[in-house]
Amino acid sequence: MDEARSGEPVISLRRVTAELGARPVLRGIDLTVGAGEVVALLGANGSGKSTAVRTVIGQVPVTGGEIEIFGTPRRRFRDWARVGYVPQRTTAAGGVPATITEVVASGRLSRARFGVLRRSDRDAVRDALEQVGMADRAKDSVNALSGGQHQRVLIARALVSEPDLLIMDEPMAGVDLASQEVLAATLRRQVERGTSVLLVLHELGPLEPLIDRAVVLRDGCVLHDGPPPKAVGQHALPGHDHVHPHDADAAPVRTGLLT
Ligand SMILES: Nc1ncnc2c1ncn2[C@@H]1O[C@H](COP(=O)(O)OP(=O)(O)OP(=O)(O)O)[C@@H](O)[C@H]1O
Ligand SMILES: [Mg+2]
Repeated sequence: MDEARSGEPVISLRRVTAELGARPVLRGIDLTVGAGEVVALLGANGSGKSTAVRTVIGQVPVTGGEIEIFGTPRRRFRDWARVGYVPQRTTAAGGVPATITEVVASGRLSRARFGVLRRSDRDAVRDALEQVGMADRAKDSVNALSGGQHQRVLIARALVSEPDLLIMDEPMAGVDLASQEVLAATLRRQVERGTSVLLVLHELGPLEPLIDRAVVLRDGCVLHDGPPPKAVGQHALPGHDHVHPHDADAAPVRTGLLT
């Protein structure tokens, strides 16, 4: 609310550079998301989209530039409960078969006192599962889910802390049509309640009407920042799953967003 009044961006990257394995991956990018704004981050495979959002949440160290979240330099930012993050899905199956409820509840830990989930937390978990149409599967193992259902669970996990900022990395990738529609409706409700959104996308697709602005990356640089480019809305790069073997980065910041 304060941000909306002051016009302060909720995310601000200025001249951010980052390297992965000694290779420059971000070469001085500027990226802002204003309060209540929905920004799409577009670009080809390997252009640096995931790296850019991962610098915001502290999963990739930057080598230069400045990052602010809700007007606070990222290194001093502590209020991670205000941020919901949906990572890019990979095909690597996790070892431990958690239930859907457990996965979604993990997104509430940042709000829970002393890590103990209370009645209001359990209600929030149920509400988030209802929002994505997965309440009837609450006790099932996440291993038994389709790609689209799995993605819905990750989105429920991001929503359950009732964030002011949602960051989603390719939420539509590998998601069936029915789940895409659920997801678009869920996102629309979030936007209506004033949530700011940064979305990594390959194509605008069903989310196009929600998007205020698009930033296009090419080879670690910003190529375009403005109205969503129409051509990207079609079938620019259909059907690929584009999974990278991302290694754990050195000393990631503990934000509670990935646990
Ligand atoms: N952990 C890592 N170590 C080394 N290089 C990496 C690592 N993660 C990503 N890269 C490289 O950094 C570049 C940018 O990767 P990034 O994942 O940010 O791209 P992207 O735009 O998200 O691509 P995609 O559309 O495929 O998800 C790529 O060339 C990628 O191979
Ligand atoms: Mg990516």
